[in-house]
Amino acid sequence: MKLEALEVLKKRRAIRAYKPEQITDKELDAVLEAGTFAPTGAGTQGVQIVAVQSPENVAAVEALNAKVLNNPAAHPYYGAPTILLVFETEACVTHELDGAAVCTNLLNAAYAAGLGSCWIHRCKQMFELPEGKALLKKWGLSDKLVGVASIALGYAACDLPQPKPRKADYIVKV
Ligand SMILES: Cc1cc2nc3c(=O)[nH]c(=O)nc-3n(C[C@H](O)[C@H](O)[C@H](O)COP(=O)(O)O)c2cc1C
Repeated sequence: MKLEALEVLKKRRAIRAYKPEQITDKELDAVLEAGTFAPTGAGTQGVQIVAVQSPENVAAVEALNAKVLNNPAAHPYYGAPTILLVFETEACVTHELDGAAVCTNLLNAAYAAGLGSCWIHRCKQMFELPEGKALLKKWGLSDKLVGVASIALGYAACDLPQPKPRKADYIVKV
């Protein structure tokens, strides 16, 4: 399925129910590559994207996010089989703004590739916790990485939600 860029930007929605089936490597790589082409301040590319797919690591990340939520029974990634973690690195002069730009590319690319996705908060707090730092170490990554956002990714197990009407004063032309 190929969608026009403007149609993708308008139609993408946050998906909060996922099929357990894992996405293909081709789909994952297409989404990740699109993330790497997001704008970054001064072109520093000071962002690192970590794709989490093993059930053990997905469960660990979900438990970490639920811990920050102070609700260990929560499923903050809605059963998505893949979680993308977006970090700012020390090289990043424009901090979380670059990571946010990467996230929007990832979300829109996911929709263009026929996948569901949802931006999930609390990534910064997750990787400030000792358990988060231990995961980074386990994955062979610097524990200096600062979490910007995470993304639930997978095949949607629900219809595409309808967007809220856009607020009247969203745009001002002067
Ligand atoms: C900074 C940020 C944090 C978000 N955190 C969460 C979250 O923790 N859980 C969640 O279900 N959705 C989260 N979302 C998704 C928003 O709720 C969603 O984008 C918004 O309701 C608009 O819906 P749409 O994406 O379908 O247009 C977050 C979005 C942003 C931009």
